[in-house]
Amino acid sequence: MTSNPSPETQPAVSDAFFPATSMPDIDWWRALWPDPDGVVRALGVASGMSVLDLACGDGYFTAALARCVGSGRTVGLDLDPALLGQARAAYADLPCDWRLGDAMAIHHSCPGPFDIVLMANTFHGVPDKMALARAVAAVLAPEGRFVIINWYPRPREETLVLGKPRGPRTELRLSPEATVNAVAGAGFERHLVVPLEPYHYGLILRKSARQDP
Ligand SMILES: C[S@@+](CC[C@H](N)C(=O)[O-])C[C@H]1O[C@@H](n2cnc3c(N)ncnc32)[C@H](O)[C@@H]1O
Repeated sequence: MTSNPSPETQPAVSDAFFPATSMPDIDWWRALWPDPDGVVRALGVASGMSVLDLACGDGYFTAALARCVGSGRTVGLDLDPALLGQARAAYADLPCDWRLGDAMAIHHSCPGPFDIVLMANTFHGVPDKMALARAVAAVLAPEGRFVIINWYPRPREETLVLGKPRGPRTELRLSPEATVNAVAGAGFERHLVVPLEPYHYGLILRKSARQDP
């Protein structure tokens, strides 16, 4: 796994990194996700949309979003400047807007509205999930969707990729139901769960019809 920047290189923001969310190594990540374009289409991303990839890492899914929305708007947000630099270089041919910032304060770096905010492979590590969901709600369009890609809560020793156990520790993995419960207080409800073989699901959340006043 690639390490998050040390306190020496990122003194101002190092405390803000979510635990257990380092960017996976590229070899097994691409073996696990051979078709990112198919994944984002399956999650409801469509041409012309305005989309945000929250905690975008090296931009692997952001690039898929950009290819899918075409002339829409694609923003990739991450707290790691080195990963954003890699993303910018790797996908220079795509119209992605790369932003350095903290996912807990999206509106500072990425004002909406967005049709879709995607958080892939990161939600398990967010300490205050309700606060994150509130930050997402603030930048979503009224009919917008918050989409979370999570590992199913299977034991880590069973989720093999290229012959080795991969992904977050077993105890960090959340079911779709537990994820819905974690964000319901921020005004989200389950819309759809899309299985993403072999080890993940995509949870599509919409704003609840009944919102707090
Ligand atoms: C496991 S990687 C997933 C990257 C990408 N979403 C993917 O699925 O390929 C998690 C990412 O979250 C980023 N991250 C961690 N804490 C963050 C925060 N507070 N705000 C924004 N990004 C953060 C890390 O820098 C890392 O790039």
